[in-house]
Parts: sequence; structure tokens; C-alpha cells
Amino acid sequence: MKNYVILSGAGLSAESGLATFRDSGGLWEGHDPMAVATPEAFARDPDLVQRFYNERRAGLLGAKPNAAHKALAKFEQEIATKGGTVLLVTQNVDDLLERAGAKNILHMHGELFKIRCTQCHDHFLWKQDLSTQTPCPSCKAQSLRPAIVWFGEMPLYMEEIERALLKADLFISIGTSGSVYPAAGFVDMARARGTDCIELNLEPSDNHHLFTKTIYGPAGDIVPRWVEEELKGI
Ligand code: OAD
Repeated sequence: MKNYVILSGAGLSAESGLATFRDSGGLWEGHDPMAVATPEAFARDPDLVQRFYNERRAGLLGAKPNAAHKALAKFEQEIATKGGTVLLVTQNVDDLLERAGAKNILHMHGELFKIRCTQCHDHFLWKQDLSTQTPCPSCKAQSLRPAIVWFGEMPLYMEEIERALLKADLFISIGTSGSVYPAAGFVDMARARGTDCIELNLEPSDNHHLFTKTIYGPAGDIVPRWVEEELKGI
């Protein structure tokens, strides 16, 4: 039975109403990403950064998983019953895969509904607004920040992801522009081992030429269709 690694990006959640990063003229929800998604931006203007993520959190509360999230959750379950594995590696900070019922998920860029304390390093589930004055529930310091990996910070779970890529029989990339490393390099790692790689995206990504197969269209259409085909073939 096969082992699958499925990488996803903002395109997976686009049809749930969550904005992608590079489809709107370089702005992300009206902001320059460098002004809101870097440690330097947080040091310079923490109120702006907290407000920006408060809006993202509120937006996510109103969003729902789409057909692509649901198809991936179903795929994970069906493959598990047949003795295979599916690892869902996502660059997305939303929880729509979880809400669709998926379990084996690694959020390499962090999670919007989590915050962390820069003093005591505790993490907390957090769905409401956060301000620079909010005290840490553990140590009471006013040192809370979104548990998001910002530009210039180290993505999470890299060792686990690399281990999974080493034993993957198929690597699938969904809804990502292939422009942010290290995620954009996973296809190279998989190809170096001779692993088949499939791209599912609205349009060719920056590294589409590295994939053995490409399927283009909205994720809500092409992901459920790919899942049905793959399940039929095993
Ligand atoms: P991007 O915004 O760079 O790319 C989104 C991709 O999804 C593009 O290639 C679109 O063509 C595609 N797309 C848009 N709508 C789609 C749809 N309905 N169905 C399928 N595909 C669709 O987003 P990411 O590749 O996720 O990092 O960006 C990677 C990282 O860059 C993000 O995680 C974030 C950002 O900076 C951090 O915040 C650290």
C-alpha cells in the first residue's frame, strides 16, 4: 500500500473565502506581507500586527471547509483502512482540514488559532482578539504573539516532513505557487528519489516543470476528482 505526502497552500482554502498571498497584485488582504508578517514588523508596530491577525482569526471563524478539504479528509481515512499512510503537510494556518475531519496534519507555517508567549514559551488555543496588553494565561507577561511562522523564521516539523518524503510513493502539491522555500523544494527532494509528483493548482506554479503530472483547475473541482480516481486505482 502506498505512502502519500500531500503539500497544500493557500489555493486549497481560496474557495472557502480565505485570500491567497500572491493572487492580488502582491498585497495580502490589503497589506504588504513584509509590514505584517515578519518579526521586525512585530517589533516595530505590534498593534498593527495584532490587529491584522485579529481580522484573520475573525475571518477564519466564519469560513467553512470546501469540497477539496473534505475530499482530502476522506482520502486520508480510506487510505488508512487499506494500510497506507497520508501525511497532510500544509503551509496554511487555517484549521479547515481539521474541521473537514482530517487528522494527520502538519502546519509547517503555524496555526492561526494558536498563540504563544515569548517569555514562558507556552502555547494556547486562541480564537478571540489578542492585544499587546493581553496577559499570558500562564506567566502573566504581556508577551503574547500569534503562533505563526513569519518571514525569516524557521518552518516547523521539517525533520518529520523530510522523513515522510523519504518513504513517500507519491508526492502531491495542491494550491501553492511554489515560490516559498523550504516547501517549494519538496518536489526536488521527492524527484531526487524517483518519487512520482503531481501538481494540482489553478495554474502552473513556479516549479510546475518538476512534476511528473499536472492537473489545473479550482481545487474544489480537481481535488475531489483526483481523490476518486486515485481510490479507484488502488
Ligand atoms: P500563494 O498565494 O503564493 O499561491 C497560491 C496558489 O494557489 C497560486 O499558485 C494560485 O494559482 C493557486 N490558487 C488560487 N486559487 C485557487 C483555487 N481555487 N484552486 C486551486 N489553486 C488556486 O500561496 P502559498 O503558495 O500558500 O507563508 O504561499 C506560500 C507561503 O507564502 C504562505 O504559507 C505564506 C506566504 O508568505 C508564510 O506566511 C510564512
